[in-house]
Amino acid sequence: MSFQAVPIQTASKSALYAELAGQARALLHGEHDRVANAANLAALVWQVLPDINWCGFYFFDGRELVVGPFQGKPACVRIALGKGVCGTAAASRQTQLVADVHAFPGHIACDAASRSEVVVPLLDGERLIGVWDVDSPLPARFDEEDRDGMQHVCEIYIQSLRAATDEEAQKS
Ligand code: SME
Repeated sequence: MSFQAVPIQTASKSALYAELAGQARALLHGEHDRVANAANLAALVWQVLPDINWCGFYFFDGRELVVGPFQGKPACVRIALGKGVCGTAAASRQTQLVADVHAFPGHIACDAASRSEVVVPLLDGERLIGVWDVDSPLPARFDEEDRDGMQHVCEIYIQSLRAATDEEAQKS
C-alpha cells in the first residue's frame, strides 16, 4: 500500500479539518491494529498540520498513561492520571485546550519549545483508551475549531479499532 499525505492548501480551518478527516479515514481504512493506526495517524497529522512540534498518543494501561506512537522529540514515557495536561484530559474525560502551557498547573514540559497544547481523551464508550496530544511552539495555536477537528479525527481512530472488536464478535 502506498498512501500519499496530501498537503492541505486552504485558508479555512473547517476545510482543513474536513480534508484531514477524509485523509485519515482513507489511511485507516481496512486496518484495525491500535498501534499501526496510531502510528500512521500521528505521521499524517505531523505532515499536514502547520506549526506543531509534537503530536501523538498516550495509551492507558489500566493504571497510568504510557507513550505510544508519536512524531516530534522523545517524550515522557509515563503520566499519572490527573497529572499534566494529558493526565487531566484522561481523568476528566474532557478535551483540554491550553492556550499557554506555562499557565497550566502541573504542565509537563517534554519539549521546552511547547507553548500551547490540545489533548483529546480517547474513549470507546465508557472505556478510556488513552489520549491524543498535539503541541505547538506558538502560543494560543489551537482554538475551538482545532479542538472540534481533533475530536473528529479521534472518533475516526476509535471507530477503526471498534471494527476489529465487531469482527472478532462475528467470528465467535
Ligand atoms: N505536555 C504534556 C506531556 C506530554 S508532552 O507534551 C508530549 C502534559 O502536560 O501532559
